Amino acid sequence: MEVILYGALSTVWWISSLSILLPLVILLKFSKTFRSKWFSWIFMNCLGPIFNPKLKPLRKRAFDILKEHLKDRQKDVPLEVLEIGIGGGANLQYYPSNSNLTALDMNESFETYFNETKKKYPQITYKKMVTAMAENMKDIEDSSMDVVVCTFVLCSVQNVQSALSEIKRVLKPGGKFLCLEHVAFPHSQWSYTIQRFVAPLWHLYFDGCFPDRDIAEEIRKKGFTDVVFENVYPNSLTLFVRPQIVGIATK
Ligand SMILES: C[S@@+](CC[C@H](N)C(=O)[O-])C[C@H]1O[C@@H](n2cnc3c(N)ncnc32)[C@H](O)[C@@H]1O
Repeated sequence: MEVILYGALSTVWWISSLSILLPLVILLKFSKTFRSKWFSWIFMNCLGPIFNPKLKPLRKRAFDILKEHLKDRQKDVPLEVLEIGIGGGANLQYYPSNSNLTALDMNESFETYFNETKKKYPQITYKKMVTAMAENMKDIEDSSMDVVVCTFVLCSVQNVQSALSEIKRVLKPGGKFLCLEHVAFPHSQWSYTIQRFVAPLWHLYFDGCFPDRDIAEEIRKKGFTDVVFENVYPNSLTLFVRPQIVGIATK
């Protein structure tokens, strides 16, 4: 039943995108500046308010996993954290104590939103804000981070393996890569066919995001020493961003 509903919705989406929404589609396709501003606005003002309350338990679960992995750390030594694709800073509320944050995003339009959020969490110290692609984080030194945080970003990077190589490079030996992402349904399911059907539009409207990536598989291939992921299917979320993986990998 759900698949039929989403199939119908996706067809209507395609038809309207090729007719009344065509001017918007053309702007999104050909203007990177417009795409960046559109996405930060729509993410912070529409998608965030709708989805963030539903994502709260998953974000909390991710950081609980991290805290469990860090239970033996010396709390008086600052924890060097790099968050990739930090957007408006939705994870700041969950950060471990004494975190020293390097915030990275490719989209400068998020900076104003992030600066507003960060005022609410004065306990986090900020090392620097970097505007860069996750695939090329040349401003971040090798083996300098205790933790890399990445939530709902690997769905959008241009090259998942390059981004993961960079994450491994900047992590200290034994450092933790905390990851929360929406991923593809198993390929035998109709829900996956629908994800594939909307992927080109989804990619365009949501600044490069793919709903149909096998991100856990990409991480497993990367050769971290330890990879532990939970698969979750939160029914409160639209089929396009279900299932999700939450977990941690160790360098
Ligand atoms: C869906 S938003 C998620 C924001 C935030 N991590 C969260 O959980 O709310 C994706 C974010 O990743 C950023 N992003 C996407 N691809 C990126 C890349 N290749 N390098 C750096 N940032 C990227 C986007 O600009 C955006 O801020």
